[in-house]
Amino acid sequence: MPAEILLKGGTLVTASETREGDLLVRGGKIVEIGQGLQTTGQVLDVTDHLVMPGGIDSHVHLSHPIDKLGIKTADDFFTGTIAAACGGVTTIIDFALQRQGDSLAETLESRVGEVRDEAVIDYSLHPIVTDVRAETLAEIPSLIGEGFPSFKVMMTYAGKRVNDTGLLNVLEATSQHGGIVYLHCENDAAVTHLIDRYSKRGDTAPHFHELSRPALVEAEATYRAICLAELMGASICIAHVTNAGAASHIRNARERGLPVVAETCPQYLTLTKEVFDPSRGFESAKFVCSPPMRGEEHREALWDALKEGGLQQVASDHAPFRFSDQKTLGRGDFTRIPNGLPGIETRLPLVFTNGVKAGRIDVNRFVELVSTNPAKIFGMYPEKGSLDIGTDADLNVIDPNREVEVDHEILHSAMDYSPYEGMRLAGFPTWTMSRGDIIVGQGEPQGDRGRGQLVQRSPLAPEALP
Ligand code: URP
Ligand code: ZN
Ligand code: ZN
Repeated sequence: MPAEILLKGGTLVTASETREGDLLVRGGKIVEIGQGLQTTGQVLDVTDHLVMPGGIDSHVHLSHPIDKLGIKTADDFFTGTIAAACGGVTTIIDFALQRQGDSLAETLESRVGEVRDEAVIDYSLHPIVTDVRAETLAEIPSLIGEGFPSFKVMMTYAGKRVNDTGLLNVLEATSQHGGIVYLHCENDAAVTHLIDRYSKRGDTAPHFHELSRPALVEAEATYRAICLAELMGASICIAHVTNAGAASHIRNARERGLPVVAETCPQYLTLTKEVFDPSRGFESAKFVCSPPMRGEEHREALWDALKEGGLQQVASDHAPFRFSDQKTLGRGDFTRIPNGLPGIETRLPLVFTNGVKAGRIDVNRFVELVSTNPAKIFGMYPEKGSLDIGTDADLNVIDPNREVEVDHEILHSAMDYSPYEGMRLAGFPTWTMSRGDIIVGQGEPQGDRGRGQLVQRSPLAPEALP
């Protein structure tokens, strides 16, 4: 690490302000911000660039096992974090999936072991609670104290799903200790019923995936999660909101002052259910994810909710499966198409281009949605997600006028397609800095394997949620 790096002549952008200025980095921290700063160290000329806090992606699945198919997501913690850095991201939060009978602590310990020597950027983990026993619930307070204040609960997915009784217990256990429950909301009975209906008819093509998970299935579970959280006095974050009905339940809850926050993802902001048009045949498998993309009216409703404050963050839900040998496991049976899309590297450019450049949100709201709010929601602010003096020098430096045409060959994921092929996007970083190290320079990755550190996250005060 050079002794000092001075970023000179840029436009500094945070969630609350935009100003011209220089920024001095020393010892991995931001130490000075002002005009006409000097250094004996390295100078980066960032004229015509925006200097922003590094992106935080709180929803990624690297080396994520899908037991029923015997596969893992295509990116491991090295390729995935290289791709993240090349998309301006400096911190990820992945997951630690509890197996039946295992403790959350041993699940986390073994998952940290998988990440530790691989990650190029800083990281943390959300335990995914699947086995809600008294012993599991008893672990929650100590894990919050040890830096893991968020717990993922899936309301659907065989083998991982938690029923309402289990969810109430997890909500209760987190509520008293500064935890937050991160929820995948779909009505499991309804999804299972619809899948059975299509499967029995022999309707096996990918577009039946979308038909078996309609918006109402998600909206109902979202509303139920909000009600159960209110009953338990718990804070919740709703993952991957796709539709106007779910967004309206979230807005109503927030208007009543409940500690409810929510995310959407670039796929729901930039794609529609057209990707499942039967005329596309099995190519549609590239877009199979849960919940699925919706109609145009939902896409615009999500942008409105981002603009008006009804949704608080945009995460990628990066769950990459190669088309050639992973998505194709579901040929002839849509229930065996692994669910998820790649997006760790394209998240910021997609939101910058379709949000800021298209005039839907301003650049401060952009920073808030992709960096500052995730830091606040998941207990990392202000060390991450800000440009304050004394905080980590995690920076995303972009030339807002440089466009790149998306092609999976030039992206850094271990993937054989991108859902966004051919789109021209601005917002890829010229430089990405992580704790003062330049890990992407002129768009090229240069971070060392294993340099990423586990972030010690703080318990959350419900009133501090954005
Ligand atoms: O289809 C998706 N989103 N796969 C990733 C796992 C999840 O549900 O978030
Ligand atoms: Zn999910
Ligand atoms: Zn996910």
